[in-house]
Amino acid sequence: MARRTKIYEGKAKILYEGPEPGTIVQYFKDDATAFNAQKKDVIEGKGVLNNRLSEYFMTGLAQIGVPTHFIRRLNMREQLVRACEIVPLEVIVRNFAAGTMSKRLGIEEGTQLPRPIVEYCLKNDELGDPLVTEEHIAAFGWASQQDMDDILSLALRVNDYLSGLMYGVGIKLIDFKIEIGRVYENDYPRLIIADEISPDSCRLWDIATGQKLDKDVFRRDLGSLTDAYSEVARRLGVIPKSQVTKPTLIN
Ligand code: CDP
Repeated sequence: MARRTKIYEGKAKILYEGPEPGTIVQYFKDDATAFNAQKKDVIEGKGVLNNRLSEYFMTGLAQIGVPTHFIRRLNMREQLVRACEIVPLEVIVRNFAAGTMSKRLGIEEGTQLPRPIVEYCLKNDELGDPLVTEEHIAAFGWASQQDMDDILSLALRVNDYLSGLMYGVGIKLIDFKIEIGRVYENDYPRLIIADEISPDSCRLWDIATGQKLDKDVFRRDLGSLTDAYSEVARRLGVIPKSQVTKPTLIN
Protein backbone atom coordinates (compact mmCIF):
# COMPACT_ATOMS: atom_id res chain seq x y z
CA MET A 1 0.00 0.00 0.00
CA ALA A 2 1.28 3.44 -0.87
CA ARG A 3 2.41 5.38 2.20
CA ARG A 4 0.64 8.49 0.92
CA THR A 5 -0.78 10.03 -2.21
CA LYS A 6 1.62 11.42 -4.75
CA ILE A 7 0.26 14.61 -6.32
CA TYR A 8 3.03 15.39 -8.77
CA GLU A 9 6.56 14.33 -9.65
CA GLY A 10 8.82 16.93 -11.21
CA LYS A 11 12.48 16.91 -12.24
CA ALA A 12 13.92 17.61 -8.78
CA LYS A 13 11.00 17.20 -6.37
CA ILE A 14 7.98 15.05 -5.58
CA LEU A 15 4.81 16.50 -4.03
CA TYR A 16 2.65 14.37 -1.73
CA GLU A 17 -0.64 15.15 -0.06
CA GLY A 18 0.05 16.72 3.33
CA PRO A 19 -1.28 15.57 6.71
CA GLU A 20 -3.86 18.37 6.93
CA PRO A 21 -6.03 19.93 4.23
CA GLY A 22 -4.25 22.76 2.47
CA THR A 23 -0.80 21.28 3.08
CA ILE A 24 1.66 19.47 0.82
CA VAL A 25 4.82 17.51 1.56
CA GLN A 26 7.64 18.56 -0.75
CA TYR A 27 10.31 15.83 -1.17
CA PHE A 28 13.71 16.85 -2.59
CA LYS A 29 15.22 14.25 -4.92
CA ASP A 30 18.90 13.84 -5.79
CA ASP A 31 18.13 14.06 -9.52
CA ALA A 32 19.82 16.84 -11.44
CA THR A 33 18.64 17.89 -14.88
CA ALA A 34 19.72 20.63 -17.24
CA PHE A 35 18.90 21.91 -20.72
CA ASN A 36 15.24 20.95 -20.33
CA ALA A 37 16.17 17.47 -19.02
CA GLN A 38 18.47 16.57 -21.95
CA LYS A 39 21.30 16.21 -19.41
CA LYS A 40 20.47 14.07 -16.36
CA ASP A 41 22.29 12.58 -13.39
CA VAL A 42 21.77 11.54 -9.80
CA ILE A 43 23.92 13.60 -7.44
CA GLU A 44 23.98 11.99 -4.02
CA GLY A 45 23.13 14.45 -1.28
CA LYS A 46 21.83 17.27 -3.49
CA GLY A 47 18.24 16.86 -2.25
CA VAL A 48 19.30 17.03 1.39
CA LEU A 49 21.28 20.22 0.80
CA ASN A 50 18.51 21.90 -1.20
CA ASN A 51 15.91 21.00 1.43
CA ARG A 52 18.03 22.70 4.11
CA LEU A 53 18.99 25.70 1.97
CA SER A 54 15.44 26.33 0.78
CA GLU A 55 14.24 26.13 4.40
CA TYR A 56 16.89 28.67 5.37
CA PHE A 57 16.01 31.19 2.63
CA MET A 58 12.23 30.82 3.02
CA THR A 59 12.45 31.20 6.81
CA GLY A 60 14.60 34.32 6.44
CA LEU A 61 12.16 35.80 3.93
CA ALA A 62 9.24 35.19 6.31
CA GLN A 63 11.21 36.96 9.05
CA ILE A 64 11.44 40.11 6.92
CA GLY A 65 7.76 39.93 6.00
CA VAL A 66 7.90 38.25 2.60
CA PRO A 67 5.19 35.57 2.55
CA THR A 68 6.21 32.07 1.44
CA HIS A 69 4.61 28.62 1.22
CA PHE A 70 7.09 27.13 3.72
CA ILE A 71 5.60 25.78 6.97
CA ARG A 72 8.32 23.57 8.46
CA ARG A 73 10.99 21.06 7.57
CA LEU A 74 9.91 17.50 8.34
CA ASN A 75 13.14 15.56 7.87
CA MET A 76 16.32 15.42 5.80
CA ARG A 77 14.51 15.45 2.48
CA GLU A 78 11.02 16.74 3.14
CA GLN A 79 9.31 19.95 4.10
CA LEU A 80 5.69 20.80 4.78
CA VAL A 81 4.38 23.64 2.61
CA ARG A 82 1.07 25.40 2.00
CA ALA A 83 -0.90 24.17 -0.98
CA CYS A 84 -1.31 26.95 -3.53
CA GLU A 85 -2.20 27.55 -7.16
CA ILE A 86 1.03 28.05 -9.05
CA VAL A 87 1.10 31.09 -11.33
CA PRO A 88 2.31 29.57 -14.64
CA LEU A 89 5.36 31.83 -14.86
CA GLU A 90 9.02 31.47 -13.96
CA VAL A 91 10.11 34.80 -12.55
CA ILE A 92 13.80 35.48 -13.17
CA VAL A 93 15.72 38.31 -11.54
CA ARG A 94 19.14 39.22 -12.92
CA ASN A 95 21.83 41.42 -11.36
CA PHE A 96 24.67 40.40 -13.68
CA ALA A 97 24.42 39.00 -17.22
CA ALA A 98 24.75 35.21 -17.58
CA GLY A 99 23.17 32.21 -19.25
CA THR A 100 20.42 32.89 -21.76
CA MET A 101 20.58 36.66 -21.29
CA SER A 102 24.26 36.71 -22.27
CA LYS A 103 23.52 34.54 -25.30
CA ARG A 104 20.43 36.46 -26.38
CA LEU A 105 21.91 39.94 -26.03
CA GLY A 106 25.59 39.22 -26.54
CA ILE A 107 26.59 40.55 -23.13
CA GLU A 108 29.65 38.96 -21.55
CA GLU A 109 28.83 36.75 -18.55
CA GLY A 110 29.46 38.57 -15.28
CA THR A 111 28.76 42.07 -16.64
CA GLN A 112 26.87 44.07 -13.99
CA LEU A 113 23.48 45.21 -15.22
CA PRO A 114 22.46 48.88 -14.83
CA ARG A 115 19.75 47.74 -12.42
CA PRO A 116 18.09 44.43 -11.52
CA ILE A 117 16.12 43.14 -14.52
CA VAL A 118 13.05 40.96 -14.04
CA GLU A 119 12.03 38.54 -16.80
CA TYR A 120 9.05 36.22 -17.13
CA CYS A 121 9.04 32.80 -18.80
CA LEU A 122 5.99 30.66 -19.40
CA LYS A 123 6.19 27.44 -17.36
CA ASN A 124 5.97 24.92 -20.18
CA ASP A 125 8.63 22.21 -20.52
CA GLU A 126 7.47 21.16 -23.99
CA LEU A 127 8.14 24.68 -25.26
CA GLY A 128 11.33 25.05 -23.18
CA ASP A 129 9.89 27.76 -20.88
CA PRO A 130 9.81 30.57 -23.48
CA LEU A 131 10.42 34.19 -22.49
CA VAL A 132 7.14 36.15 -22.51
CA THR A 133 6.26 39.81 -22.08
CA GLU A 134 3.70 41.40 -19.78
CA GLU A 135 1.56 41.88 -22.89
CA HIS A 136 1.39 38.09 -23.39
CA ILE A 137 0.70 37.56 -19.70
CA ALA A 138 -2.19 40.07 -19.69
CA ALA A 139 -3.63 39.00 -23.06
CA PHE A 140 -3.64 35.28 -22.24
CA GLY A 141 -4.77 35.89 -18.65
CA TRP A 142 -1.86 34.04 -17.00
CA ALA A 143 -1.83 36.73 -14.27
CA SER A 144 -3.75 39.95 -13.65
CA GLN A 145 -2.24 43.43 -13.61
CA GLN A 146 -2.55 43.46 -9.81
CA ASP A 147 -0.74 40.09 -9.70
CA MET A 148 2.04 41.47 -11.91
CA ASP A 149 2.52 44.50 -9.61
CA ASP A 150 2.68 42.18 -6.59
CA ILE A 151 5.01 39.70 -8.36
CA LEU A 152 7.45 42.47 -9.31
CA SER A 153 7.53 43.79 -5.78
CA LEU A 154 7.99 40.28 -4.29
CA ALA A 155 10.74 39.45 -6.81
CA LEU A 156 12.69 42.62 -5.98
CA ARG A 157 12.34 42.05 -2.23
CA VAL A 158 13.63 38.50 -2.61
CA ASN A 159 16.49 39.88 -4.71
CA ASP A 160 17.48 42.44 -2.06
CA TYR A 161 17.31 39.84 0.69
CA LEU A 162 19.26 37.15 -1.19
CA SER A 163 21.85 39.55 -2.62
CA GLY A 164 22.62 40.98 0.82
CA LEU A 165 22.73 37.58 2.47
CA MET A 166 25.10 36.22 -0.19
CA TYR A 167 27.28 39.33 -0.24
CA GLY A 168 27.80 38.88 3.51
CA VAL A 169 29.38 35.45 2.90
CA GLY A 170 31.49 36.47 -0.09
CA ILE A 171 29.11 35.33 -2.83
CA LYS A 172 27.74 37.34 -5.73
CA LEU A 173 24.07 36.67 -6.63
CA ILE A 174 24.18 36.72 -10.42
CA ASP A 175 20.54 35.74 -11.03
CA PHE A 176 17.80 33.48 -9.72
CA LYS A 177 14.38 32.08 -10.53
CA ILE A 178 11.34 31.99 -8.26
CA GLU A 179 7.84 30.64 -8.63
CA ILE A 180 4.78 32.33 -7.24
CA GLY A 181 1.75 30.71 -5.61
CA ARG A 182 -1.73 32.04 -4.98
CA VAL A 183 -3.53 31.27 -1.72
CA TYR A 184 -6.93 32.42 -0.55
CA GLU A 185 -7.38 34.02 2.85
CA ASN A 186 -11.02 34.81 3.70
CA ASP A 187 -11.76 34.52 -0.02
CA TYR A 188 -9.11 37.13 -0.87
CA PRO A 189 -6.25 35.97 -3.10
CA ARG A 190 -2.71 36.57 -1.87
CA LEU A 191 0.56 35.83 -3.63
CA ILE A 192 3.38 33.99 -1.88
CA ILE A 193 6.81 32.61 -2.80
CA ALA A 194 6.44 28.90 -3.65
CA ASP A 195 8.57 26.01 -4.99
CA GLU A 196 12.17 26.27 -3.76
CA ILE A 197 15.06 28.69 -3.49
CA SER A 198 18.34 26.81 -3.76
CA PRO A 199 21.58 26.74 -5.79
CA ASP A 200 19.56 24.75 -8.37
CA SER A 201 17.66 27.94 -9.21
CA CYS A 202 20.30 30.63 -8.57
CA ARG A 203 23.66 31.59 -10.06
CA LEU A 204 26.15 32.12 -7.26
CA TRP A 205 29.77 33.15 -7.86
CA ASP A 206 32.48 33.38 -5.23
CA ILE A 207 33.42 37.09 -5.06
CA ALA A 208 37.14 36.48 -4.51
CA THR A 209 37.76 33.80 -7.14
CA GLY A 210 34.75 33.86 -9.48
CA GLN A 211 34.23 30.14 -8.77
CA LYS A 212 30.71 28.95 -9.59
CA LEU A 213 28.77 27.55 -6.63
CA ASP A 214 25.49 26.68 -8.36
CA LYS A 215 23.91 24.34 -10.93
CA ASP A 216 26.22 25.60 -13.68
CA VAL A 217 28.80 23.26 -12.05
CA PHE A 218 26.57 20.42 -13.30
CA ARG A 219 25.44 22.08 -16.56
CA ARG A 220 29.04 22.83 -17.58
CA ASP A 221 30.87 19.87 -15.92
CA LEU A 222 32.93 22.06 -13.60
CA GLY A 223 33.43 19.58 -10.75
CA SER A 224 31.45 18.30 -7.78
CA LEU A 225 27.98 19.81 -7.43
CA THR A 226 27.59 18.71 -3.80
CA ASP A 227 30.96 20.29 -2.92
CA ALA A 228 29.72 23.58 -4.40
CA TYR A 229 26.32 23.45 -2.63
CA SER A 230 27.97 22.36 0.65
CA GLU A 231 30.28 25.37 0.42
CA VAL A 232 27.26 27.71 0.16
CA ALA A 233 25.54 25.91 3.06
CA ARG A 234 28.70 26.05 5.21
CA ARG A 235 29.26 29.76 4.60
CA LEU A 236 25.66 30.51 5.56
CA GLY A 237 25.99 28.35 8.71
CA VAL A 238 23.29 25.96 7.45
CA ILE A 239 25.67 23.01 7.90
CA PRO A 240 28.64 22.94 10.29
CA LYS A 241 31.83 24.70 9.15
CA SER A 242 33.86 21.55 9.63
CA GLN A 243 32.73 18.16 8.36
CA VAL A 244 35.13 16.47 10.78
CA THR A 245 33.17 15.39 13.83
CA LYS A 246 35.15 15.15 17.00
CA PRO A 247 33.95 13.06 19.92
CA THR A 248 32.21 15.25 22.48
CA LEU A 249 31.99 14.65 26.19
CA ILE A 250 28.43 14.19 27.37
CA ASN A 251 27.84 14.80 31.06
O1 CDP B 1 19.80 28.50 -16.76
P1 CDP B 1 19.68 28.91 -18.20
O2 CDP B 1 20.93 29.48 -18.80
O3 CDP B 1 19.01 27.86 -19.04
O4 CDP B 1 18.59 30.06 -18.21
P2 CDP B 1 18.66 31.52 -17.62
O5 CDP B 1 17.46 32.19 -18.20
O6 CDP B 1 19.98 32.17 -17.87
O7 CDP B 1 18.45 31.33 -16.06
C1 CDP B 1 18.41 32.40 -15.16
C2 CDP B 1 18.36 31.85 -13.74
O8 CDP B 1 17.14 31.17 -13.53
C3 CDP B 1 19.47 30.84 -13.44
O9 CDP B 1 19.90 31.04 -12.10
C4 CDP B 1 18.80 29.50 -13.60
O10 CDP B 1 19.38 28.53 -12.74
C5 CDP B 1 17.37 29.82 -13.16
N1 CDP B 1 16.39 28.98 -13.88
C6 CDP B 1 15.75 27.95 -13.21
O11 CDP B 1 15.97 27.75 -12.02
N2 CDP B 1 14.83 27.16 -13.86
C7 CDP B 1 14.54 27.38 -15.15
N3 CDP B 1 13.64 26.60 -15.74
C8 CDP B 1 15.18 28.42 -15.84
C9 CDP B 1 16.10 29.21 -15.18
